Amino acid sequence: MSFPKIILALMLILCCGDIARSNAADSVGVAPVVCAPGEANINAGELNIFKSASPPAHEIKELAWLVIGICAAIFVVVEGILVWSIIRFRKRARDVGEPVQVFGSNPVELAWTVVPTIIVFVLALATVRTIREVQLTEPPEGALQVDVIGHQWWWEYRLPTLDGSGTIITANELVVPVGRPVWLTLRSADVIHSWWVPQLNGKTDVIPNHVNHLWFAAERPGIFLGQCAEYCGTQHANMLLRVTAVEPAEFDAWCAAQELPPVNDPAVAAGKQQFLDLACMNCHAINGVSDGSFGPNLTHLMSRTTIGSGVAPLNPQTLRSWVDDPQNLKMGCNMPSLKLEPEQLDAIVAYLLTLK
Ligand code: CUA
Repeated sequence: MSFPKIILALMLILCCGDIARSNAADSVGVAPVVCAPGEANINAGELNIFKSASPPAHEIKELAWLVIGICAAIFVVVEGILVWSIIRFRKRARDVGEPVQVFGSNPVELAWTVVPTIIVFVLALATVRTIREVQLTEPPEGALQVDVIGHQWWWEYRLPTLDGSGTIITANELVVPVGRPVWLTLRSADVIHSWWVPQLNGKTDVIPNHVNHLWFAAERPGIFLGQCAEYCGTQHANMLLRVTAVEPAEFDAWCAAQELPPVNDPAVAAGKQQFLDLACMNCHAINGVSDGSFGPNLTHLMSRTTIGSGVAPLNPQTLRSWVDDPQNLKMGCNMPSLKLEPEQLDAIVAYLLTLK
C-alpha cells in the first residue's frame, strides 16, 4: 500500500464512525434527533480505536501505532532522498547531453532488498501475535457468554440469567460487568453484518449459517458505541451498537430486573389488548404475553435508552412516532405502519411505556 493510501485509510478509520453517526438521520431524509435535557444522549461515547478500553483493543491500537511509525519512517527516508536528489542533481546551465549512466551496485541492490524484507517480516510477526491475542479460540476463564444475532437492522442479545437456568433476551443495548471477559457468539438471521465496537475489539463479521466469536473485557464503566461494519442494506448506517459497562453489583441488579415478568398494569389493559389484536404480537415477544421473534423483545422495552437500534433516544414522543410509522425515524426498516387510529396509537404507546 502506498503512503497516500495509508494516510487516506487512516483518515477514513478515524472519521467514518462520526460521519456515519452524524449522517444517520440525514441519510434517510429525517431531521437530526435533538435530545431533551436529562435524556440519554445517543451520541455519548466514542468510536475511536486510539481510546481503547479492553485488552484486544489495546493490542490493535499498539499494532496500529507500530504500522504508522514504520510507515512514517519509510515516508521520511524515501521522500528525503527524493527531495535531496532533485535538488542535488538538478540540471544546471553547464550540463550538456545525457548525465552519466550508472548500472549495478551490489551494496545498493542489497540494501533495498534486505531492508524491506526485514520490515515486512517485523510487520507480519507483530500482526500474527496481535491476531492470536484478539481472536481467541476458546472463551476466557469466567467469561459472560452472550449470543448475538444480527438482524436487518438491529441487534438481538441473549444472556444467561443470574442462576444460569434461563435466558435474558434484549435488543440493541448490551449491558456487561466491568472487568469480566465477555464472549460473544455471533450469528445472523439474514445477511452479513459486522459487530464493531472500536474501544472494545476489532470488527468481526456476523455471517448467516456460520458462527463467529469475539471477546472483550471492558476495563472501566461507561458507554461504548459501535456500528455495524458490513454493508447490510438500506439502514446499515443506523444499525448502531451500544455497550454499557457497569460495576458487577449493578450488572447483577440489571439482570435481576430483566428476569422479572413484564409489568401488568390494569390501567393500560386496553393497550395490551390492542397489542394482541393487531399485528404487533406476530413480530414482538413480551414474555408471557406474545412470542413473536421477528422484531426486538419488548418485555423490558423502557429499560433501554434508545429506539430503532440507536437511531433516536427512547421517550414517549419517539415511541409514539415509531409506532405510528417507523419509517419516520428509520426509512426502509422492516416494520410497517399499521395506520392506527389516534386512540389505538395512544393505547398501545401507553401500554408499551409501562414495560420498564
Ligand atoms: Cu448490519 Cu450493516
